[in-house]
Amino acid sequence: MREAGGGLAVVPTAPERTRNSDVDHPYRYDSHFHYLCGFDEPGAWLLIDASGHSTLLCREKNLELEIWEGVRLGPAAAPAALGVDEAFAIDALDKLLPDRLANASAVWFPFGVHPELQARVDGWLGAVRKRERSGIECPGAQRNLSPLLGEMRLVKDAGEIATMRRAAEISAGAHARAMRFCAERLRAEPRSGIREYEIEAELLHEFRRHGAQAPAYPSIVAAGANACVLHYAAAGAELRSGELCLIDAGCEFDGYASDITRTFPASGRFSTAQRELYDIVHAAQEAAVAATHPGARQRDAHWAAVRVLAQGMLATGLLDRNTVGDADAVIESGAYRQFYMHGTGHWLGRDVHDVGEYASLGEAPVDQLDGQGGRVMKKPSRVLRAGMAVTLEPGLYVRPGPGVPERYWHIGIRIEDDAVVTDTGCELISRGAPVAATEIEALMHG
Ligand code: GLY
Ligand code: MN
Ligand code: MN
Repeated sequence: MREAGGGLAVVPTAPERTRNSDVDHPYRYDSHFHYLCGFDEPGAWLLIDASGHSTLLCREKNLELEIWEGVRLGPAAAPAALGVDEAFAIDALDKLLPDRLANASAVWFPFGVHPELQARVDGWLGAVRKRERSGIECPGAQRNLSPLLGEMRLVKDAGEIATMRRAAEISAGAHARAMRFCAERLRAEPRSGIREYEIEAELLHEFRRHGAQAPAYPSIVAAGANACVLHYAAAGAELRSGELCLIDAGCEFDGYASDITRTFPASGRFSTAQRELYDIVHAAQEAAVAATHPGARQRDAHWAAVRVLAQGMLATGLLDRNTVGDADAVIESGAYRQFYMHGTGHWLGRDVHDVGEYASLGEAPVDQLDGQGGRVMKKPSRVLRAGMAVTLEPGLYVRPGPGVPERYWHIGIRIEDDAVVTDTGCELISRGAPVAATEIEALMHG
């Protein structure tokens, strides 16, 4: 007989991926899988049944291959090393799964993540079905495991927060290093530029020398006008004295991402126009920080930042009050989107854009701004609670256009910090990199 409420969760890690020819990308495990068992080798699967019993399938020891590829943990050592209840060689997977799925009420796995997983599940269910005449019941349901794991991962425990703090600390140090590097180079050679890739190299050096495994996402190092391209990658453009440099870069440390943006003047002094816009973005971020606390909704930080940005756009003449009206009208019409077109934050954790539902699914839809200048009926955003981690990343991006004051043309600014919600507010774990304009100038001239 099938256990009531029982089921089996099946979680593969990520496959190895070819980069080109016979060269692979550096291996990165699957975030769900690693969250559950902390195992970082490829070729592994985790099974968890309804009682919490866990089974790892992993690569067998193979001394010949280990000479080339490195040491494998192997199933014999896995339970003691990882805390799983049992472990078998990966070759046992197709035999074991039909046994474990027999009489289970459901099979749970992440939908739409691993391209061949659905076919594997269908194969195992087919094998169970063949035994039905001997009284074995086949799972009656396939369920998506991702939302459950997303909810578990959304609220971080103390160990996770400590790891995230370390990731953010290393990344903040890398941003400070990049600022110092630019100031020193331009002091020594004021007339020559600095290539974006040279600045990227400073970041990577700082990440790795502190033991971070990799950048959590491709680093953005944008000189001058390139900062107005939101997904610009570090390339070969020259950063020159008088321009701003926008860096959006963060390392991954022991499986956890950091995500920091700083914008600084190449030579260490903001121009008047740069400083005006910088201070608006900084004030918008302060408003977002104040709106991030238990009981607030995740989206409150966005609207708090948008209000300050909209007021700044009117005060500087980026938007003409006679044409667009006051700040309320600018927010309602979405006119601010000419200069601020992205959201103010996202969940942060093992993935830089971490898992977890953004909408409060248990609540009824409400009438709200859709963020595109219209209105929509949809569920309100999620209420924050201690242990959630978010980024706070307002910006301003000024492209030339009719009526746009020329002194602001090509200025792109974003400030991004990583916040962990606490019992009373939020803690910014990435503030090892200076953020106020005066602090940046002080560091670059120190
Ligand atoms: N670095 C990606 C982001 O800020 O969302
Ligand atoms: Mn971000
Ligand atoms: Mn970022």
